Amino acid sequence: MITKTAQELAIPVGVTLDRFIMHSQSAFPYATGELSQLLRDIALAGKIINREINRAGLVDIAGGNGTENVQGENQQKLDIVANIRFIRALKNGGEVCAILSEEDEDIIHTGNNHGKYVVAMDPLDGSSNIDVNVSIGTVFSIYRRVSPINEPATKEDFLQGGRKQIAAGYILYGSSTMLVYSTGDGVNGFTYDHSLGEFILSHKNICCPTNGSIYSINEGHYNSYPEFVKHYIGTCKEKSLSARYIGSLVGDFHRNLLKGGIYLYPSTKKDPKGKLRLLYECYPLAFIAEKSGGKASDGFGPILDIVPSSFHQRSPIYLGSAAMVEKAIGS
Ligand code: AHG
Ligand code: MN
Ligand code: MN
Repeated sequence: MITKTAQELAIPVGVTLDRFIMHSQSAFPYATGELSQLLRDIALAGKIINREINRAGLVDIAGGNGTENVQGENQQKLDIVANIRFIRALKNGGEVCAILSEEDEDIIHTGNNHGKYVVAMDPLDGSSNIDVNVSIGTVFSIYRRVSPINEPATKEDFLQGGRKQIAAGYILYGSSTMLVYSTGDGVNGFTYDHSLGEFILSHKNICCPTNGSIYSINEGHYNSYPEFVKHYIGTCKEKSLSARYIGSLVGDFHRNLLKGGIYLYPSTKKDPKGKLRLLYECYPLAFIAEKSGGKASDGFGPILDIVPSSFHQRSPIYLGSAAMVEKAIGS
């Protein structure tokens, strides 16, 4: 039985993430605390990755690794470092039985078969921005497993569909480091205070403006976009909207979430199914968008309604302020 939602509880801006999680958990009288612990594990992984990123220019972890990931993309050293750090934190935490990562073809069994949860993640998003000190991020999506407890996780645990996410969020390593997540009742943002080593509630109950004046798309691919996207870009220009695109999905999404705007990654001739990955890029950000009052569509319907068929499948995405997404896809 839910007594009060986390949003209704009087949790003031300035509390630590730990205290916020404790307060939110008290809204669920029968909660066992395992999801809370999992969120703490993710925050810990975020702090560790943040430390690695901050000193990337000083130690030999910047630059390419000379390898390709499962999708044939060049891996940066920090992609690999972030992947290892995240997997280690989730293994040590004990709540997660398996992980799906952008960097690994198959699911990673943590050895914690008693764990109730699985996590799909992009450990480091925005690889092209790592070496040039531009914002990058981590994206995560959490499901309650559907396979029997105390047995190894199965692919069905990860292919439940976006509506079955019980929590999702991202960490943005930007001019400050922020953790933004939702367990379903509102979206909250926490800014990392380096001196305290704590995430502090700074953006309570984030609501995505219904409309905005920013559009974010890689216009370099303009010629290969579908006609409706070219048309929408034309309307943005007619209205003199601001073009803002840094090529880090998390950074571009976060700005538009706070200020009002739309992020578009359509299908192209090179990537007819879009570039972004459904399970660990599109679903989690679509979850945050919807829980904050925004929208996420693949051009045909809500991203969260797409029935997934494989771990690393891609999708076009139109994401952000509700009125802008509706206009872009013509609904
Ligand atoms: P990743 O670094 O995990 O491979 O993802 C990069 C993604 C996303 O962050 C960004 O919005 C998009 O790729 C940029 O693609 P373009 O360079 O084609 O614009
Ligand atoms: Mn990515
Ligand atoms: Mn990545």
